[in-house]
Amino acid sequence: SLTLKDAYKNDFLIGTALSADQIQEKNGKEDSLIKKEFNAITAENIMKSMFVHPQKDKYDFTLSDKFVAYGKKNNMFVHGHTLIWHSQLAPWMEKIADSTEMKAFMQDHITTIVSKYKGKIDSWDVVNEALNEDGTLRKSVFLNTLGEKYLVDAFKLAAKADPNVDLYYNDYNIEEPAKRAGAIALIKKIKAKGGKVDGVGIQGHWRLASPSLEEIEKSILEYSALGIKVAFTELDITVLPNPWDLKGADVNQKFEGNPKMNPYPEKLPDSIQKKLADRYASIFKLFLKHKDKISRVTFWGVHDKQSWLNDWPIKGRTNYPLLFDTELKHKEAYNSVLELK
Ligand code: XIL
Repeated sequence: SLTLKDAYKNDFLIGTALSADQIQEKNGKEDSLIKKEFNAITAENIMKSMFVHPQKDKYDFTLSDKFVAYGKKNNMFVHGHTLIWHSQLAPWMEKIADSTEMKAFMQDHITTIVSKYKGKIDSWDVVNEALNEDGTLRKSVFLNTLGEKYLVDAFKLAAKADPNVDLYYNDYNIEEPAKRAGAIALIKKIKAKGGKVDGVGIQGHWRLASPSLEEIEKSILEYSALGIKVAFTELDITVLPNPWDLKGADVNQKFEGNPKMNPYPEKLPDSIQKKLADRYASIFKLFLKHKDKISRVTFWGVHDKQSWLNDWPIKGRTNYPLLFDTELKHKEAYNSVLELK
């Protein structure tokens, strides 16, 4: 029977994030599902700075080499995630104190990693999550030491190390108006200053009711009007209550272990299973309408058991955000996405 990647083969790539275990083919059933359903992969964690560059003079490419080899062996599009991000940095990077040191770091880090995978990695998230919700630049060790210049520097260094790889700016909530305006201004500025930006990655950590299809559609149109590709890079849809909706402040302490925050520990009720399926169908319908502008749609994980949303923003919940359940079975949402074709 038809699979996701086959159904959408003339439209856009269908990707998934893979864990360290998954690239080592430890679970045969899961491995064959990955190979059947997906034609693009992103490393969920192992290419992040703390893993590939644990110390100033030490890179560790053991797992990232395996990841790239897995993709090549299976004829998959291989996406690199991520070069410059404020999170999951090695501790030594957090201590970089001035512009001279930071310039040297970026030069070494980006050049080493991008050159190593030149011709093997198809696209890179050069910068991840540089923006605040209001569209201003997020405070980080990069902004603090170099100012906004770090953004164009990063794209220039990546293009120099591999002129043929596609370079993306990746972020969440950049389909929402204020943050979207900030992302558009940022991409324009990077390009105006001579940086090469080939695409925008809209993460797509979404909910049942938001963002609206209107905002998603405006985003596809406005970003592609910049002359860049649009990818949805980390798609998942939470069905759980968001603690920030209820209170305002910090989450984990107050809500961990609260049954109201984890309403479906055993099974997702049919009515919500159906809502999830409808939500996925309406999103993919919109993606199909604009398939000429969309390069790739990647899910943030293969199945519900793997999802980071079981532990974020509250640890130890049972979430149901993907198309395959914990037993790797097709969910109603899987069928609704396939049935559009
Ligand atoms: C998440 C991973 O899924 C988790 O396993 C890890 O503990 C934290 O990072 N935005 C991103 C991703 O760009 O790298 C994040 O991945 C999810 C949010």
